[in-house]
Amino acid sequence: GLPESVTIYEVGPRDGLQNEQAVVPAEVKAQFVRRLLDAGLTTVETTSFVSPRWVPQLADAAEVLADLGELGRGRDRPVLVPNERGLDRALESGVQAVAIFGSATETFAQRNLGRGLAESVEMFAPVVRRSQEAGLWVRAYVSMCFGDPWEGPVPVEQVADACVSLMDLGCDQLSLGDTIGTGTPGHVEALLEALERRGIGVDRTGVHFHDTYGQALANTLTALRAGVRVVDASTGGLGGCPYAKSATGNLATEDLVWMLDGAGVRTGVDLDALVATSRWMAQQLGRPSPSRVVKALGGD
Ligand code: HMG
Ligand code: MG
Repeated sequence: GLPESVTIYEVGPRDGLQNEQAVVPAEVKAQFVRRLLDAGLTTVETTSFVSPRWVPQLADAAEVLADLGELGRGRDRPVLVPNERGLDRALESGVQAVAIFGSATETFAQRNLGRGLAESVEMFAPVVRRSQEAGLWVRAYVSMCFGDPWEGPVPVEQVADACVSLMDLGCDQLSLGDTIGTGTPGHVEALLEALERRGIGVDRTGVHFHDTYGQALANTLTALRAGVRVVDASTGGLGGCPYAKSATGNLATEDLVWMLDGAGVRTGVDLDALVATSRWMAQQLGRPSPSRVVKALGGD
């Protein structure tokens, strides 16, 4: 069966905007976050403290958080942090939640982090330790949990190894990234079972599906039926990783809310307000939202 309620972990301001060609002004980014909160989302990933050389789109992270003030702080306003330099910057901005982001494959670790799997865990270890000392909430993303554009399908035990190595650092929550959207429902079930066997239960696991192959909703439903209660989504279906060949947008938050509303699962989100936000953001970006629900309800 399905749960009574689901936590939507909104990644639009981070995953969505990291992949845009156009530079979105910091004040527009902050306004985007405010509108998402007004629409009823509780958990919003606001930005990234990564290298501005690697992701110039989010180089203004400190400005965005300064603009947001108290709204950008709290255990449900995480930011991406790869290394201690990023953590220092995040702490200066007053954040109370961070997300590290590892990989299930060697190739993507090299491409996205400039180092291999073992070295990337070494980079994250002091970030998690210091975050815990500072009382922060810590999420661990693992990318390429289903398929990798260079290595092909990724064996579930290899993914489980990567998840265990990051969760063993002491992270509070895991997010399973289908970075290029090739995963399918049976594969989702198999991975969740493998994780359970390795001691990582669905109570600590979120899912992060990109919708490249149109599988994101089916995969989400499968994960929910298996007991997952945290689902990542991006308003308007923005998103993608600039270092992952062929990555496109995340599961659109509107598409997720439509499905959950229909099933009577509570999310706290006002769908009309969200669609209006996506239409506003599409104007800022100069192109229409790829979300099916935004198109259907958008009124153009
Ligand atoms: P590095 O080892 O320092 O490498 O960075 P570098 O030598 O290329 O350094 C570049 C410059 O950035 C240096 O400055 C560093 O000091 C500086 P320079 O000497 O050239 O003047 N630098 C920093 N500056 C500010 N803040 C920092 C920072 N770190 C270094 N934190 C690093 C390694 C991991 C930082 C780099 O590779 C990086 O930033 N990678 C991030 C890539 C990224 O953000 N990808 C997208 C997010 S992951 C994703 O989207 C997947 C996800 O959605 C889940 C899924 O879908 O699967 C989460
Ligand atoms: Mg992503």
